[in-house]
Amino acid sequence: MRQIIIGNWKMNGTKALVETMAREVSSRAASLACDLVLCPPATLIVPLVAALGGAPAKVGGQDCDARASGAHTGDIAATMLREVGASHVILGHSERRADHGESDALICAKVAAARAAGLTPIVCVGEDEAARQAGRAEAVVMGQLAASLPADFADPPAGLVAYEPIWAIGSGRTPTTDDIAAMHGAIRAALRDRFGAAGGAIAILYGGSVKPGNAAALLALAEVGGALVGGASLVPGDFLAIAAAAAPALGRAPGAS
Ligand code: 13P
Repeated sequence: MRQIIIGNWKMNGTKALVETMAREVSSRAASLACDLVLCPPATLIVPLVAALGGAPAKVGGQDCDARASGAHTGDIAATMLREVGASHVILGHSERRADHGESDALICAKVAAARAAGLTPIVCVGEDEAARQAGRAEAVVMGQLAASLPADFADPPAGLVAYEPIWAIGSGRTPTTDDIAAMHGAIRAALRDRFGAAGGAIAILYGGSVKPGNAAALLALAEVGGALVGGASLVPGDFLAIAAAAAPALGRAPGAS
């Protein structure tokens, strides 16, 4: 399975970035050995889908509501994202958990809504620095995983999981490669335990300060099926350099070493 490189623009980006990113992606995506997904702010989904045209890159949202429609001012339904051309949606990002108090149960409901609308959910899990220092990182992530994924998560088309240690996001710090490999191994074991063989095929992405300079080392790790990229995804050359680092994994099963 090809690795997946996902750009999370967060609350950044302009129509000008849409144009330059689409131009660069259109000229280089076909030569890449990975799949690309760009997740701009909701207002830029329509222009990004249009600008990408037939380029082999997909577009995703950064959140969706768990409900189908109704009197929920400011919220966006999964079906609305799908209707305008999104194929993916990030759910349970630590910034939404923190800024909006999102619980695992709410995230689980959002994942179900996304799947029902035909979107591929990208479910984020990750510990904060205090938990890491207390030796509780794995326990925190296992708890989030168990409570954020609905029972059909591994049914085709399966969702994606992104391990994003909160303290590595936007900080320029990353866990050691041993720590990333250990956490991805633990996530894989939990997915297999819960979903059987289908749990072995769910891609597990790493996120948190992925840059052109460290992408090759991170993407070469066992059970790392791709990257969820924040800051570097706002710079077309950096995002594509990270994607180019996925090339050696061509033809590799997710997580195969
Ligand atoms: P950075 O790549 O800026 O650390 O952000 C990671 C992230 O939160 C992606 O969702």
